Amino acid sequence: MKSVDGKLDLLLSEATAPLFWTPERLNHNSGWWGHVPFAFWLIANCKPRLLVELGTHNGVSYAAFCEAVVRSRISTRCYAVDTWAGDAHAGFYDEEVYTGFKKFHDNRYGAFSELLRMTFDEASETFEDGSIDLLHIDGFHTYDAVRHDFEMWRPKLSDRAIVLFHDTNVRTSDFGVWRFFADLRKELPAFDFLHCNGLGVVATGGQTPIILRELFALNERSTSALRDRFAHFGSRWMAVVGVDELGEKLKTSEEKATELQVAQSRAVADQESAVTWAKSLDLELADLRQTYARTVADHEAIVTWAKSLDLELADLRQTYARTVADHEGVVTWARSLDLELAGLRQTHARTVADHEGVVTSAKSLELELTDLRQTHARAVADHEGVVTSAKSLELELADLRKAHACAVADHEMATAKVRSLQDLVAEGEQRARHSESLERDLAGVRRHIGELEQELVNTRRDAALAHQLIASNSWRLTRPMRFAARLVRGDWRGARAGFWTSRKSFITVCRLARFGSDA
Ligand SMILES: C[S@@+](CC[C@H](N)C(=O)[O-])C[C@H]1O[C@@H](n2cnc3c(N)ncnc32)[C@H](O)[C@@H]1O
Repeated sequence: MKSVDGKLDLLLSEATAPLFWTPERLNHNSGWWGHVPFAFWLIANCKPRLLVELGTHNGVSYAAFCEAVVRSRISTRCYAVDTWAGDAHAGFYDEEVYTGFKKFHDNRYGAFSELLRMTFDEASETFEDGSIDLLHIDGFHTYDAVRHDFEMWRPKLSDRAIVLFHDTNVRTSDFGVWRFFADLRKELPAFDFLHCNGLGVVATGGQTPIILRELFALNERSTSALRDRFAHFGSRWMAVVGVDELGEKLKTSEEKATELQVAQSRAVADQESAVTWAKSLDLELADLRQTYARTVADHEAIVTWAKSLDLELADLRQTYARTVADHEGVVTWARSLDLELAGLRQTHARTVADHEGVVTSAKSLELELTDLRQTHARAVADHEGVVTSAKSLELELADLRKAHACAVADHEMATAKVRSLQDLVAEGEQRARHSESLERDLAGVRRHIGELEQELVNTRRDAALAHQLIASNSWRLTRPMRFAARLVRGDWRGARAGFWTSRKSFITVCRLARFGSDA
């Protein structure tokens, strides 16, 4: 609908609508806020095909360009180039600046826009010559840096290209954009805003959009009016951000105030505890004074004691001198003892060696003694056997003696009987006497036994009268003779074996003799 006199048309026109758009990237600090309405208006009216920004930081200017692309429903491709590390003018900042802006950007503008995290020079290689319609240069702000960036990117500009320069109105420090822009406007059509550090606009090609050509052609009065109006539109967002900043500052101040209140109450508490502590220190001081007085008294006592100790020490020094003299004597003595000890050690070593030899000998003697003991035990056992044998022999001998005595008696009787029987009995008596002498002299016995045997043979022959009586007993009669002969020869075993039979034979002979005499 059109107004009757057309006065409202301008206010309702699509051409002025961008001046009233609200930016999305609020709450971020930037020197660019005052130029956001111009950015909206420029994009909406120039409709660039390719847009590149050199220097994006928090993305206030870049977000304004992208927002305008979205709201204008145009097919602009957009690229933001920055290292997102900062520089000496903007300051060096944290990684969150890049990550925060990327998240904001990708959600809203990812369909047509891209963030190129690299240097301006590196990025320039990725664009074709004559392709860029809108270039915003907002990197490092020295004269040389801006000149370098412009010349590096100038070949990439299209014939309808517009180039924006921020900070054209900053003349402090080494900022040199204002000087470079002054150089440019000598050769290129240009316009610049003075608010918000200044924003310069130049056209580099022959096909500059008509609306910008009109802008560059404005007279002084219109230029001033336009600067005022855009400064006014821009001030809204500067105020909003300023209020936000003030809010942030207020919040920070309130936090600081709270911190101060906490610190103050802590200080009051500290002061109270300090007073309490001071009081306790005062009491402690009084105690310390008393302790000091006691200590002084103690000290005086100690001084007195020290003096007595000093005297005692003098005595002790004398005693010590004497002791030292004694000690030297003892040392001399100890040295002589040491020498003696060395001698004794040698002697001891020899003694030990001897002892070991003796021990070795003793061990071999002990072994020998063990052998001897065994031999002795065996000898004792043998001896006991011999003693036992001797005892049994002794018993046997006693028996023999008795038998012998009996035999002698019997023999005497037999002799007496034989003598009384015949002359040969006399010889029997002689043999009986001879038999007695055998007991005294065994050698004689042997001889006499031979004689007796001979005599017995003779007796056998001569005693013909008794032969019949004793014929059957002749062997028995000779048994005593054989037994006597064994005794004479020393054949004890044979003698013992034949003793009992001889004894019986002897008894038989005696009986026969007695029988003969009786007969
Ligand atoms: C003033 S700030 C950009 C402000 C931004 N246009 C805004 O709307 O607030 C400058 C940025 O340029 C970047 N910069 C400076 N020199 C650069 C270079 N040679 N290559 C890439 N980035 C650079 C810095 O990292 C910094 O983020």
